[in-house]
Amino acid sequence: MRILGIESSCDETGVALVETTEAGWPQLLAHALHSQIEMHQAYGGVVPELASRDHIRRVLPLTREVMARAGHTLADVDVVAYTRGPGLAGALLVGSGVACALAASLGKPVMGIHHLEGHLLSPFLSADPPQFPFVALLVSGGHTQLMRVDGVGRYALLGETIDDAAGEAFDKSAKLMGLPYPGGPGLSRLAEQGNPATYKLPRPLLHSGDLDFSFAGLKTAVLTQCKKLGPVAHTEGAPERADLAASTQAAIVEVLTRKAMTALKETGLQRLVVAGGVGANRELRRQLNALCEKAGVRVHYPELHLCTDNGAMIAMAAAMRLQAGLQGAEPRYSFDVKPRWPLQDIAVESV
Ligand code: KG4
Ligand code: ZN
Repeated sequence: MRILGIESSCDETGVALVETTEAGWPQLLAHALHSQIEMHQAYGGVVPELASRDHIRRVLPLTREVMARAGHTLADVDVVAYTRGPGLAGALLVGSGVACALAASLGKPVMGIHHLEGHLLSPFLSADPPQFPFVALLVSGGHTQLMRVDGVGRYALLGETIDDAAGEAFDKSAKLMGLPYPGGPGLSRLAEQGNPATYKLPRPLLHSGDLDFSFAGLKTAVLTQCKKLGPVAHTEGAPERADLAASTQAAIVEVLTRKAMTALKETGLQRLVVAGGVGANRELRRQLNALCEKAGVRVHYPELHLCTDNGAMIAMAAAMRLQAGLQGAEPRYSFDVKPRWPLQDIAVESV
């Protein structure tokens, strides 16, 4: 069975073709991606209307590219999957509208997929896929959650952010330092030249005794520090700026790693899966790898290029849901999207 996946929840248009196999996990045949980052950079963040319009322009050429790369035609597609939510309403509507129109024209069924389930299952596309059960640290631009995952669809929330997401903390701090949107990758590159011990920034909720996160206070502390530093805080080449970037990254990474390790200890699980855009962060990976090795825990990441939004994770989640018998693919083209959609809502059972 071949599943076409379409992702359009935010600022990346992603299309992919995945094939289920007799034994083992579904395999990625081809994927293509267009990032809108450059277009939004002039505005310092995602402009929803521009995002929707660009998805319209990109989705069909990307689909043709994927089919050509995979050596297939649309007639070989058995199911069309799309991101149903959460995300920007207009952007989601483009992907769902195109998916349903395409499926209707081919006489094939459709599946609406949860974006975070896509991230969560994306490490199954890697050469070293995890095994259930595991703890998942989901760290993206909009979400920061620790989940216990016992199987496809078997998700229990252990903790989450009560305000900003980890990616948001990276992006907002980076903006204060004059780095272009999205600031996460730029801030982490700058941090490599700085000293993380220079500025004492807060580690919110580190000792809260639960697995929740809070990053809003950190952004305020970075703002205060920027004001104290004056122009050097956003001057290219200023050592103070690199030190502030390193100190900010250290605060975010320490909270994420400490809470992830506590979740592993509390659940007694021996596997950790890290997913979402912030999972590409090198320092986070370095520290998690070291801590997990010490604790005898296996840690899995998606392939680096599949950490941020992409169509492969949507096609993969659809394929895994089909294989698990959790969701049928239906020839029902009256789509609706869910801009706000907690992952727990699709859990088949609480663990
Ligand atoms: O998962 P994703 O592509 O989109 C959402 O679903 O939100 O995550 C995007 C987020 C952005 O906040 C971006 O700054 C962050 O992931 N990010 C990073 C890195 N690469 C992407 N943050 C820190 N270090 C990175 N290397
Ligand atoms: Zn995402």
